[in-house]
Amino acid sequence: MTKIIQSDRSQTVVVAGGAGFIGSNFIRTVIEITQWSVIVIDKLTYAGNLLNLDGLPSDRVRFVVGDVCDKELVDSIAKNADAIVNFAAESHNDRSLYAAGPFLKTNVEGTFVLIEAARRFHIRYHHVSTDEVYGDLPIETDTSFTLASPYRPSSPYSATKAAADHLVSAWVRSFGVQATTSICVNNYGPYQHIEKFIPRQITNLLTTRRPKLYGTGRNVREWLHVYDHVFGIMKILTSGQIGKSYLLSSGLGLSNIDVLRLILEIMEFPEDYFDCVIDRPGHDRRYALDSTSTKSELNWSPRYSDFRAGLKDTIQWYKENVDWWIENKRNVEEQYARREASS
Ligand code: NAD
Ligand code: TYD
Repeated sequence: MTKIIQSDRSQTVVVAGGAGFIGSNFIRTVIEITQWSVIVIDKLTYAGNLLNLDGLPSDRVRFVVGDVCDKELVDSIAKNADAIVNFAAESHNDRSLYAAGPFLKTNVEGTFVLIEAARRFHIRYHHVSTDEVYGDLPIETDTSFTLASPYRPSSPYSATKAAADHLVSAWVRSFGVQATTSICVNNYGPYQHIEKFIPRQITNLLTTRRPKLYGTGRNVREWLHVYDHVFGIMKILTSGQIGKSYLLSSGLGLSNIDVLRLILEIMEFPEDYFDCVIDRPGHDRRYALDSTSTKSELNWSPRYSDFRAGLKDTIQWYKENVDWWIENKRNVEEQYARREASS
Protein backbone atom coordinates (compact mmCIF):
# COMPACT_ATOMS: atom_id res chain seq x y z
CA MET A 1 0.00 0.00 0.00
CA THR A 2 1.44 3.39 -0.96
CA LYS A 3 1.41 5.95 1.81
CA ILE A 4 -0.80 9.00 1.36
CA ILE A 5 0.98 12.34 1.38
CA GLN A 6 -0.67 14.97 3.56
CA SER A 7 0.78 18.32 4.53
CA ASP A 8 -0.34 18.11 8.17
CA ARG A 9 1.23 14.69 8.82
CA SER A 10 4.80 14.09 9.84
CA GLN A 11 6.26 12.49 6.73
CA THR A 12 9.62 12.19 5.05
CA VAL A 13 10.09 13.51 1.55
CA VAL A 14 13.26 12.94 -0.48
CA VAL A 15 13.98 16.00 -2.62
CA ALA A 16 16.36 15.15 -5.44
CA GLY A 17 18.14 18.22 -6.82
CA GLY A 18 17.03 20.24 -3.78
CA ALA A 19 20.08 22.54 -3.87
CA GLY A 20 19.07 24.00 -7.25
CA PHE A 21 16.73 26.88 -8.13
CA ILE A 22 13.26 25.32 -7.98
CA GLY A 23 14.13 22.50 -5.55
CA SER A 24 15.43 24.91 -2.90
CA ASN A 25 12.36 27.15 -3.23
CA PHE A 26 10.23 24.01 -2.87
CA ILE A 27 12.01 22.99 0.35
CA ARG A 28 11.55 26.45 1.88
CA THR A 29 7.81 26.18 1.21
CA VAL A 30 7.63 22.64 2.58
CA ILE A 31 9.28 23.74 5.81
CA GLU A 32 6.94 26.71 6.09
CA ILE A 33 3.59 25.07 5.37
CA THR A 34 3.88 21.37 6.21
CA GLN A 35 4.99 19.05 9.00
CA TRP A 36 7.32 17.12 6.69
CA SER A 37 10.98 16.32 7.08
CA VAL A 38 13.15 16.55 4.01
CA ILE A 39 16.15 14.54 2.86
CA VAL A 40 17.93 16.37 0.07
CA ILE A 41 20.04 14.39 -2.36
CA ASP A 42 22.06 16.64 -4.64
CA LYS A 43 25.32 16.16 -6.52
CA LEU A 44 26.18 19.85 -6.16
CA THR A 45 27.03 20.34 -9.82
CA TYR A 46 27.86 23.86 -11.01
CA ALA A 47 24.10 24.55 -10.63
CA GLY A 48 23.71 23.31 -7.05
CA ASN A 49 24.55 25.59 -4.15
CA LEU A 50 24.37 24.79 -0.44
CA LEU A 51 23.76 28.48 0.24
CA ASN A 52 20.33 27.96 -1.33
CA LEU A 53 19.40 25.95 1.77
CA ASP A 54 20.95 28.31 4.29
CA GLY A 55 18.97 28.91 7.46
CA LEU A 56 16.68 25.88 7.16
CA PRO A 57 16.14 23.91 10.41
CA SER A 58 18.66 21.06 10.70
CA ASP A 59 16.17 18.88 12.61
CA ARG A 60 13.89 18.85 9.55
CA VAL A 61 16.29 19.09 6.60
CA ARG A 62 19.09 16.57 6.10
CA PHE A 63 21.50 17.06 3.23
CA VAL A 64 23.22 14.19 1.40
CA VAL A 65 25.76 15.01 -1.29
CA GLY A 66 25.32 12.39 -3.97
CA ASP A 67 24.33 11.41 -7.45
CA VAL A 68 20.78 10.29 -8.30
CA CYS A 69 22.38 7.71 -10.61
CA ASP A 70 23.93 6.01 -7.53
CA LYS A 71 21.42 3.21 -6.90
CA GLU A 72 22.80 2.10 -3.52
CA LEU A 73 22.77 5.63 -2.17
CA VAL A 74 19.28 6.39 -3.52
CA ASP A 75 17.92 3.12 -2.10
CA SER A 76 19.46 3.74 1.32
CA ILE A 77 17.69 7.11 1.48
CA ALA A 78 14.40 6.14 -0.14
CA LYS A 79 13.72 2.99 1.86
CA ASN A 80 12.51 4.91 4.92
CA ALA A 81 10.82 7.77 3.08
CA ASP A 82 7.21 8.43 2.09
CA ALA A 83 7.81 10.23 -1.20
CA ILE A 84 10.40 11.35 -3.74
CA VAL A 85 10.15 14.63 -5.61
CA ASN A 86 12.60 14.81 -8.49
CA PHE A 87 14.09 18.19 -9.41
CA ALA A 88 17.55 16.77 -10.15
CA ALA A 89 18.52 17.62 -13.70
CA GLU A 90 20.92 19.17 -16.08
CA SER A 91 18.62 22.05 -16.89
CA HIS A 92 20.22 24.45 -19.37
CA ASN A 93 19.48 24.22 -23.10
CA ASP A 94 22.62 26.09 -24.16
CA ARG A 95 24.86 23.63 -22.33
CA SER A 96 23.01 20.64 -23.79
CA LEU A 97 23.96 21.85 -27.28
CA TYR A 98 27.67 21.63 -26.47
CA ALA A 99 27.85 18.62 -24.12
CA ALA A 100 24.77 16.39 -24.03
CA GLY A 101 26.31 13.47 -22.09
CA PRO A 102 25.50 14.67 -18.56
CA PHE A 103 21.91 15.40 -19.68
CA LEU A 104 21.37 11.79 -20.74
CA LYS A 105 22.97 10.51 -17.58
CA THR A 106 21.19 12.63 -14.98
CA ASN A 107 17.88 13.34 -16.68
CA VAL A 108 17.23 9.84 -18.03
CA GLU A 109 19.29 7.38 -15.97
CA GLY A 110 18.75 9.42 -12.79
CA THR A 111 14.97 9.29 -13.30
CA PHE A 112 15.24 5.53 -13.87
CA VAL A 113 17.09 5.01 -10.58
CA LEU A 114 14.65 7.19 -8.62
CA ILE A 115 11.50 5.67 -10.05
CA GLU A 116 12.87 2.17 -9.50
CA ALA A 117 13.37 3.10 -5.85
CA ALA A 118 9.78 4.38 -5.70
CA ARG A 119 8.64 1.07 -7.17
CA ARG A 120 10.74 -1.09 -4.86
CA PHE A 121 9.76 0.72 -1.64
CA HIS A 122 6.14 1.49 -2.64
CA ILE A 123 6.51 5.20 -2.15
CA ARG A 124 4.99 8.19 -3.93
CA TYR A 125 7.00 9.73 -6.78
CA HIS A 126 6.56 13.18 -8.28
CA HIS A 127 8.38 14.08 -11.46
CA VAL A 128 9.19 17.69 -12.40
CA SER A 129 9.09 18.29 -16.13
CA THR A 130 8.99 21.13 -18.63
CA ASP A 131 6.80 22.52 -21.43
CA GLU A 132 9.79 22.02 -23.75
CA VAL A 133 8.87 18.33 -24.15
CA TYR A 134 6.16 19.48 -26.58
CA GLY A 135 8.56 21.34 -28.85
CA ASP A 136 7.56 24.82 -30.00
CA LEU A 137 4.64 26.75 -31.50
CA PRO A 138 4.57 29.35 -34.28
CA ILE A 139 5.15 32.87 -32.96
CA GLU A 140 2.22 34.50 -34.71
CA THR A 141 -0.54 32.33 -33.19
CA ASP A 142 -2.17 32.15 -29.78
CA THR A 143 -2.46 28.36 -29.58
CA SER A 144 -1.27 26.46 -26.51
CA PHE A 145 -0.11 22.92 -25.85
CA THR A 146 -2.50 20.66 -23.93
CA LEU A 147 -2.09 17.20 -22.40
CA ALA A 148 -3.25 15.83 -25.75
CA SER A 149 -0.35 17.42 -27.65
CA PRO A 150 2.30 15.00 -28.92
CA TYR A 151 5.81 15.12 -27.49
CA ARG A 152 8.17 16.73 -30.05
CA PRO A 153 11.28 17.88 -28.18
CA SER A 154 13.80 19.90 -30.19
CA SER A 155 16.95 20.22 -28.08
CA PRO A 156 19.13 17.60 -26.38
CA TYR A 157 17.86 18.98 -23.05
CA SER A 158 14.18 18.68 -23.95
CA ALA A 159 14.72 15.26 -25.57
CA THR A 160 16.12 13.89 -22.30
CA LYS A 161 13.27 15.46 -20.32
CA ALA A 162 10.77 13.86 -22.72
CA ALA A 163 12.49 10.49 -22.35
CA ALA A 164 12.26 10.75 -18.56
CA ASP A 165 8.53 11.61 -18.73
CA HIS A 166 7.97 8.51 -20.84
CA LEU A 167 9.81 6.37 -18.28
CA VAL A 168 7.51 7.69 -15.57
CA SER A 169 4.35 6.92 -17.60
CA ALA A 170 5.65 3.44 -18.41
CA TRP A 171 6.45 2.69 -14.76
CA VAL A 172 2.92 3.76 -13.78
CA ARG A 173 1.33 1.58 -16.44
CA SER A 174 3.60 -1.47 -16.17
CA PHE A 175 4.38 -1.56 -12.46
CA GLY A 176 1.67 0.56 -10.84
CA VAL A 177 4.15 3.10 -9.48
CA GLN A 178 2.26 5.85 -7.63
CA ALA A 179 3.60 8.71 -9.71
CA THR A 180 2.50 12.11 -10.96
CA THR A 181 4.22 14.57 -13.30
CA SER A 182 4.09 18.36 -13.50
CA ILE A 183 4.88 20.08 -16.79
CA CYS A 184 5.68 23.71 -16.22
CA VAL A 185 6.52 26.84 -18.25
CA ASN A 186 9.64 29.01 -17.72
CA ASN A 187 10.21 30.00 -14.09
CA TYR A 188 11.71 33.15 -12.62
CA GLY A 189 12.43 34.28 -9.06
CA PRO A 190 15.13 34.10 -6.36
CA TYR A 191 18.02 31.60 -6.46
CA GLN A 192 17.93 31.07 -10.25
CA HIS A 193 21.36 30.35 -11.72
CA ILE A 194 22.79 33.38 -13.52
CA GLU A 195 23.30 31.49 -16.78
CA LYS A 196 19.51 31.66 -17.38
CA PHE A 197 17.92 34.50 -19.36
CA ILE A 198 16.42 36.78 -16.69
CA PRO A 199 19.18 36.56 -14.02
CA ARG A 200 21.87 36.76 -16.72
CA GLN A 201 20.54 40.11 -17.94
CA ILE A 202 19.99 41.48 -14.41
CA THR A 203 23.53 40.55 -13.35
CA ASN A 204 24.96 41.88 -16.63
CA LEU A 205 23.45 45.26 -15.82
CA LEU A 206 24.70 45.07 -12.22
CA THR A 207 28.27 44.46 -13.48
CA THR A 208 28.35 47.07 -16.27
CA ARG A 209 27.95 44.45 -19.00
CA ARG A 210 25.40 44.88 -21.77
CA PRO A 211 22.48 42.39 -21.83
CA LYS A 212 22.66 39.74 -24.56
CA LEU A 213 19.64 38.92 -26.69
CA TYR A 214 19.68 35.87 -28.95
CA GLY A 215 18.73 36.60 -32.57
CA THR A 216 15.95 39.15 -32.91
CA GLY A 217 14.49 38.59 -29.44
CA ARG A 218 11.08 37.68 -30.89
CA ASN A 219 11.00 34.18 -29.34
CA VAL A 220 8.22 33.90 -26.78
CA ARG A 221 8.30 32.26 -23.36
CA GLU A 222 5.47 31.90 -20.84
CA TRP A 223 6.69 33.05 -17.41
CA LEU A 224 5.55 31.71 -14.02
CA HIS A 225 6.93 32.79 -10.66
CA VAL A 226 8.82 29.93 -9.00
CA TYR A 227 6.57 30.21 -5.89
CA ASP A 228 3.54 29.40 -8.07
CA HIS A 229 5.34 26.38 -9.53
CA VAL A 230 6.15 25.16 -6.03
CA PHE A 231 2.52 25.60 -4.87
CA GLY A 232 1.38 23.67 -7.92
CA ILE A 233 3.67 20.77 -7.04
CA MET A 234 2.39 20.83 -3.44
CA LYS A 235 -1.20 20.57 -4.70
CA ILE A 236 -0.32 17.67 -7.00
CA LEU A 237 1.57 15.83 -4.26
CA THR A 238 -1.26 16.09 -1.78
CA SER A 239 -4.34 15.86 -4.02
CA GLY A 240 -3.25 14.95 -7.55
CA GLN A 241 -4.54 11.84 -9.25
CA ILE A 242 -1.97 9.04 -9.49
CA GLY A 243 -0.74 8.43 -13.02
CA LYS A 244 -1.66 11.91 -14.24
CA SER A 245 0.37 14.79 -15.66
CA TYR A 246 -0.57 18.35 -14.76
CA LEU A 247 0.21 21.46 -16.77
CA LEU A 248 1.29 24.55 -14.81
CA SER A 249 1.26 27.89 -16.60
CA SER A 250 0.48 31.58 -16.19
CA GLY A 251 -0.96 32.69 -19.53
CA LEU A 252 1.76 35.34 -19.60
CA GLY A 253 3.54 34.87 -22.93
CA LEU A 254 6.14 37.55 -23.61
CA SER A 255 8.82 37.95 -26.27
CA ASN A 256 12.37 37.98 -24.95
CA ILE A 257 12.83 41.56 -26.12
CA ASP A 258 9.75 42.66 -24.16
CA VAL A 259 11.08 40.97 -21.00
CA LEU A 260 14.46 42.61 -21.52
CA ARG A 261 12.86 46.06 -22.09
CA LEU A 262 10.98 45.64 -18.81
CA ILE A 263 14.22 44.79 -16.97
CA LEU A 264 15.93 47.82 -18.57
CA GLU A 265 13.04 50.08 -17.58
CA ILE A 266 12.91 48.85 -13.96
CA MET A 267 16.71 49.15 -13.63
CA GLU A 268 16.65 52.59 -15.28
CA PHE A 269 18.72 51.86 -18.38
CA PRO A 270 17.94 53.11 -21.92
CA GLU A 271 15.61 50.77 -23.83
CA ASP A 272 18.23 50.00 -26.49
CA TYR A 273 21.01 49.17 -24.02
CA PHE A 274 21.65 45.57 -25.18
CA ASP A 275 23.52 43.55 -27.82
CA CYS A 276 21.90 41.14 -30.26
CA VAL A 277 24.16 38.08 -30.38
CA ILE A 278 24.27 34.94 -32.50
CA ASP A 279 21.06 32.91 -32.15
CA ARG A 280 20.83 29.58 -30.29
CA PRO A 281 20.89 26.67 -32.79
CA GLY A 282 17.39 25.19 -33.18
CA HIS A 283 15.99 27.95 -30.93
CA ASP A 284 12.39 27.07 -30.01
CA ARG A 285 10.07 29.85 -31.20
CA ARG A 286 7.25 29.94 -28.66
CA TYR A 287 6.11 27.95 -25.63
CA ALA A 288 2.60 28.09 -24.17
CA LEU A 289 0.57 25.68 -22.04
CA ASP A 290 -3.16 25.51 -21.35
CA SER A 291 -3.51 24.79 -17.62
CA THR A 292 -7.32 25.08 -17.45
CA SER A 293 -7.76 21.47 -16.33
CA THR A 294 -5.14 21.79 -13.55
CA LYS A 295 -6.86 24.93 -12.29
CA SER A 296 -10.28 23.33 -12.09
CA GLU A 297 -9.14 19.94 -10.80
CA LEU A 298 -6.70 21.10 -8.14
CA ASN A 299 -8.00 24.57 -7.37
CA TRP A 300 -4.58 25.96 -8.25
CA SER A 301 -3.93 29.27 -9.92
CA PRO A 302 -0.93 31.58 -10.04
CA ARG A 303 -0.87 34.03 -7.14
CA TYR A 304 2.08 36.06 -8.42
CA SER A 305 0.30 37.16 -11.57
CA ASP A 306 1.75 40.70 -11.68
CA PHE A 307 4.87 40.01 -13.76
CA ARG A 308 6.28 43.52 -13.42
CA ALA A 309 6.05 43.30 -9.61
CA GLY A 310 7.56 39.79 -9.61
CA LEU A 311 10.39 40.94 -11.85
CA LYS A 312 11.03 43.98 -9.65
CA ASP A 313 11.25 41.75 -6.56
CA THR A 314 13.58 39.39 -8.42
CA ILE A 315 15.86 42.27 -9.47
CA GLN A 316 15.88 43.44 -5.85
CA TRP A 317 16.84 39.93 -4.71
CA TYR A 318 19.86 39.87 -7.07
CA LYS A 319 20.83 43.37 -5.86
CA GLU A 320 20.66 42.27 -2.22
CA ASN A 321 22.43 38.95 -2.77
CA VAL A 322 25.48 39.95 -4.80
CA ASP A 323 27.65 37.60 -2.70
CA TRP A 324 25.50 34.68 -3.88
CA TRP A 325 26.36 35.20 -7.58
CA ILE A 326 29.32 37.53 -8.05
CA GLU A 327 32.09 34.92 -7.87
CA ASN A 328 30.40 32.97 -10.63
CA LYS A 329 29.71 35.83 -13.00
CA ARG A 330 33.02 36.06 -14.83
CA ASN A 331 33.16 32.30 -15.32
CA VAL A 332 29.60 32.16 -16.72
CA GLU A 333 30.31 34.98 -19.17
CA GLU A 334 33.61 33.43 -20.23
CA GLN A 335 31.78 30.18 -20.99
CA TYR A 336 29.21 32.04 -23.07
CA ALA A 337 31.99 33.85 -24.95
CA ARG A 338 33.80 30.56 -25.65
CA ARG A 339 30.62 28.88 -26.94
CA GLU A 340 29.83 31.91 -29.11
CA ALA A 341 33.36 31.88 -30.56
CA SER A 342 33.16 28.16 -31.37
CA SER A 343 29.77 28.36 -33.12
P1 NAD B 1 18.85 23.78 -11.56
O1 NAD B 1 19.83 23.53 -12.65
O2 NAD B 1 18.82 25.12 -10.89
O3 NAD B 1 19.01 22.68 -10.40
C1 NAD B 1 19.27 21.32 -10.67
C2 NAD B 1 19.82 20.69 -9.39
O4 NAD B 1 20.05 19.30 -9.66
C3 NAD B 1 21.16 21.27 -8.92
O5 NAD B 1 21.13 21.49 -7.53
C4 NAD B 1 22.18 20.17 -9.28
O6 NAD B 1 23.31 20.14 -8.41
C5 NAD B 1 21.31 18.93 -9.13
N1 NAD B 1 21.83 17.80 -9.91
C6 NAD B 1 22.25 17.78 -11.19
N2 NAD B 1 22.67 16.55 -11.54
C7 NAD B 1 22.49 15.75 -10.45
C8 NAD B 1 22.72 14.37 -10.19
N3 NAD B 1 23.20 13.55 -11.12
N4 NAD B 1 22.42 13.90 -8.96
C9 NAD B 1 21.92 14.71 -7.99
N5 NAD B 1 21.70 16.04 -8.18
C10 NAD B 1 21.97 16.54 -9.40
O7 NAD B 1 17.44 23.44 -12.21
P2 NAD B 1 15.99 24.05 -11.91
O8 NAD B 1 15.78 25.25 -12.77
O9 NAD B 1 15.80 24.16 -10.45
O10 NAD B 1 15.08 22.89 -12.51
C11 NAD B 1 14.62 21.82 -11.70
C12 NAD B 1 13.72 20.94 -12.53
O11 NAD B 1 12.62 21.72 -13.04
C13 NAD B 1 14.41 20.35 -13.77
O12 NAD B 1 13.95 19.03 -13.94
C14 NAD B 1 13.91 21.21 -14.92
O13 NAD B 1 13.87 20.48 -16.12
C15 NAD B 1 12.51 21.55 -14.43
N6 NAD B 1 11.94 22.81 -14.97
C16 NAD B 1 12.65 23.96 -14.88
C17 NAD B 1 12.07 25.14 -15.36
C18 NAD B 1 12.81 26.46 -15.26
O14 NAD B 1 12.34 27.46 -15.80
N7 NAD B 1 13.93 26.53 -14.55
C19 NAD B 1 10.79 25.13 -15.93
C20 NAD B 1 10.10 23.90 -16.01
C21 NAD B 1 10.67 22.75 -15.51
P1 TYD C 1 16.59 30.25 -20.94
O1 TYD C 1 16.56 31.00 -19.66
O2 TYD C 1 17.87 29.58 -21.32
O3 TYD C 1 15.39 29.20 -20.88
P2 TYD C 1 14.79 28.22 -22.02
O4 TYD C 1 15.81 27.96 -23.05
O5 TYD C 1 14.51 27.00 -21.20
O6 TYD C 1 13.56 28.88 -22.51
O7 TYD C 1 16.21 31.21 -22.14
C1 TYD C 1 14.95 31.88 -22.19
C2 TYD C 1 14.87 32.59 -23.53
O8 TYD C 1 15.84 33.64 -23.56
C3 TYD C 1 15.18 31.70 -24.71
O9 TYD C 1 14.34 32.08 -25.81
C4 TYD C 1 16.63 32.02 -25.05
C5 TYD C 1 16.74 33.48 -24.67
N1 TYD C 1 18.06 33.94 -24.17
C6 TYD C 1 18.60 35.14 -24.67
O10 TYD C 1 18.03 35.81 -25.55
N2 TYD C 1 19.78 35.57 -24.14
C7 TYD C 1 20.45 34.89 -23.19
O11 TYD C 1 21.54 35.33 -22.73
C8 TYD C 1 19.90 33.65 -22.69
C9 TYD C 1 20.62 32.86 -21.64
C10 TYD C 1 18.68 33.23 -23.21
